[in-house]
Amino acid sequence: MDYDRDTLVTWDREHVWHPFTQMQGFREEDPLIISRGEGVYLYDFQGRRYLDGVSSLWANLHGHRRPELDQALVAQLSQVAHSTLLGIAHPAAIRLARRLASIAPAGLNKVFFSDNGSTAVEVALKIAFQFWRNRGQGEKQRFLKLNNAYHGDTLGAVSVGGIPLFHEIYRPLLFDTLEAPSPYCYRCPHRDDCREQCLMSLEETVASHHQELAALILEPVMQGAAGMIPQPPGYLARVREITRRYDVLLIADEVAVGFGRTGRMFACEHEGVSPDLLCLAKGITGGYLPLAATLATDEVYGAFLGKFEEFKTFFHGHTYTGNPLGAAVGLASLDIFVQDRVLQGLPAKIELLTARLAGMAAHPHVGDIRQRGLMVGIELVADKASREAFPLERRTGHRVIQAARQLGAILRPLGDVIVLLPPLCITPEELGSLCDLTFEAIRRGTE
Ligand SMILES: Cc1ncc(COP(=O)(O)O)c(C=O)c1O
Repeated sequence: MDYDRDTLVTWDREHVWHPFTQMQGFREEDPLIISRGEGVYLYDFQGRRYLDGVSSLWANLHGHRRPELDQALVAQLSQVAHSTLLGIAHPAAIRLARRLASIAPAGLNKVFFSDNGSTAVEVALKIAFQFWRNRGQGEKQRFLKLNNAYHGDTLGAVSVGGIPLFHEIYRPLLFDTLEAPSPYCYRCPHRDDCREQCLMSLEETVASHHQELAALILEPVMQGAAGMIPQPPGYLARVREITRRYDVLLIADEVAVGFGRTGRMFACEHEGVSPDLLCLAKGITGGYLPLAATLATDEVYGAFLGKFEEFKTFFHGHTYTGNPLGAAVGLASLDIFVQDRVLQGLPAKIELLTARLAGMAAHPHVGDIRQRGLMVGIELVADKASREAFPLERRTGHRVIQAARQLGAILRPLGDVIVLLPPLCITPEELGSLCDLTFEAIRRGTE
């Protein structure tokens, strides 16, 4: 049965508590209700078309209603929709685990499934913690994170997060962590020497705390929700070298940057880095279904082997861990990477995007444009020379995305950083229109 839009708006206001949303203001706005999708477009109830400029929260890779993914889902439905991985198995998860291990950075041979990015991170944190206990080095139980970090919303993930607006309120509930500076060159006091200074500080912390450090967690190459903060070239490889030297595990959170976003299948590949634990979610199903995976090396996995009564077991698992529908679609998504030569097609799109973004740089309120692959952050400022931010209550980022919506694109800002993160399948023409729309929305939103 179809429902009319007015009824849905009423029920939405009455019953739905939207994530990361101040409901007081939201309930006064006319909500956008999406009724269908096709390729890089989403359509609302009135049939208005919107370019999905943030891949439905950084997840969609190959477009909406992609026939191969739809068919993989239906085919799996005809077998079984759900069966657990706790103590038993099913073909889709087995095949996807093997496939992920074959494309992941070298050494990541074991796959622990869960169902979203935050759980992928929780799993990595708990594995890292227990790894050292199982090895008889239980004093190694702390974590080092970068400031500005975002790794999800569950309490473990929030503990290793560093965004005051999201995380500060929960401080009494969080475990204590160590923090290293994130190389946010645009706002770094050391600007020209940002990489070296940030690495020096990170290394000092690792050197003085390695005996109590279980792991360092970071998003490789680009900190996404932090505000699209790219790491200077060479940074990641040095972090890997430091963590190895001091015997600290490296957790790479590729929930946002994985699956082609930065131009390579995994961001770690840019610097030939293999972490000890790798967190994947979002794009793992091409943006279709909730599924996640935490990959581990054989060495990490090996520390959990033992007789039952030794209690080295990893006591963790979710009801929908490795759900067959998600796993089947995940396999089909990886097939599309091969069949469409997705990665091979990216450099031309990335170059086009770089060129189009350069055209926005002169705008008086565009402070910084940061890009890695098809991930972009455009930081808007009140004053370009001093880099002074707009007042919070002006809600500049929000104004820009409202303008973009009127122009036909769905965007979502991170404060006053406008994010562009289109599906990988976007064509050059569609990419051109996304840039045109965004630029015009920035003009309107900063007036
Ligand atoms: C780097 C990173 N890690 C973890 C998460 C959490 O993922 P989820 O929202 O699926 O829990 C996100 C979500 O944006 C993310 O960007």
